[in-house]
Amino acid sequence: MTIIVTGGAGFIGSNFLFHMLGKYENYRMICVDKLTYAGNLSTLEPIMDNKNFRFVKLDICDREGVYSLFQEEKPDMVVNFAAESHVDRSIEDPEIFLKTNIMGTAVLMDACRKYGIKRYHQVSTDEVYGDLPLDRPDLFFTEQTPIHTSSPYSSSKAGADLLVLAYHRTYGLPVTVSRCSNNYGPYHFPEKLIPLMIANALADKPLPVYGKGENVRDWLYVEDHCKAIDLIIHKGREGEVYNVGGHNEMKNIDIVKLICKELNKPESLITFVADRKGHDMRYAIDPTKIHSELGWLPETKFEDGIKKTIRWYLDNKKWWEDIISRDYQSYYEKMYGNRGEA
Ligand code: NAD
Ligand code: TYD
Repeated sequence: MTIIVTGGAGFIGSNFLFHMLGKYENYRMICVDKLTYAGNLSTLEPIMDNKNFRFVKLDICDREGVYSLFQEEKPDMVVNFAAESHVDRSIEDPEIFLKTNIMGTAVLMDACRKYGIKRYHQVSTDEVYGDLPLDRPDLFFTEQTPIHTSSPYSSSKAGADLLVLAYHRTYGLPVTVSRCSNNYGPYHFPEKLIPLMIANALADKPLPVYGKGENVRDWLYVEDHCKAIDLIIHKGREGEVYNVGGHNEMKNIDIVKLICKELNKPESLITFVADRKGHDMRYAIDPTKIHSELGWLPETKFEDGIKKTIRWYLDNKKWWEDIISRDYQSYYEKMYGNRGEA
């Protein structure tokens, strides 16, 4: 079995590579990554010498490059994690999101059509469903919930999802799509909520909470997401969408307070800053389908997962301090410098 994993130098893709190489001794895993600001080769150090692993620096929009890799490797499956993934960046500059997330997906699927594939899997997000109101805790996203996006990021992911399902119907491409809620865990890029708050708290810097911090996200430990994808690519039905989430809704402000508590830092570090434009209020997944069809259930409880994650950031300071010391400083100044207090 040869599997191309795109975006494998990023947060979830790298965790997926570790999971697959650890579990399947006879699988050849090929990581395709452009190494954007979010991709990090040092993340892949533990597997660089593994005989079943190959890293290829390549943009998924590069049709010629992608075709020649398919010709050479003849993959059985493709799992597409490669994407521009940060909502705040998409609000500043949408274009690259359309290129990578939509056009890149099309190039990969065209390669699958041309060279043949057993499974193309699209890693998508619950953000394609838009948001739910805070005063209706009875509502959840199911696979039937209409697509109703809020940000350029989620719109680009939704565009890609529609294209993937169209390639199934039109060309019979054997596809699956997973739509997961917010992930957390090791190797999460330090500009996203949880790692950003850990890094800032450790440096006694302000903890910038958007708006009132009442927005709700449904957090899932990254390993549980990787196990869900592993199940879907092996046992999921072609042409189907599977929602992935663990009924773990938390308000942003409560997460930030929890991080303060775990790190023994004062809540006075919390600073309420101007809200994100178009900020989604609540995400909440109904995972009934993946549970009843494939037997998937999340294994890591939030209280354990967040402790493991904080421990990982304490034990792996070099990984994120290196990132923070690069272009990150100018990003941080641009996004938070003039944001002001709410
Ligand atoms: P990430 O930003 O950490 O990693 C993305 C990776 O893709 C990086 O290594 C980057 O270099 C690579 N990449 C970007 N553009 C590329 C291109 N044109 N060609 C090749 N590689 C390219 O993202 P993540 O958080 O690991 O998310 C991975 C996938 O999972 C994304 O598709 C995202 O939409 C989806 N997802 C993420 C979450 C979450 O909570 N992080 C939740 C649900 C779904
Ligand atoms: P993020 O990690 O960017 O994920 P997403 O927007 O895809 O859900 O943000 C998670 C939540 O945290 C979201 O409601 C925005 C909020 N947030 C802050 O309040 N402050 C911050 O500095 C960041 C990065 C996010």
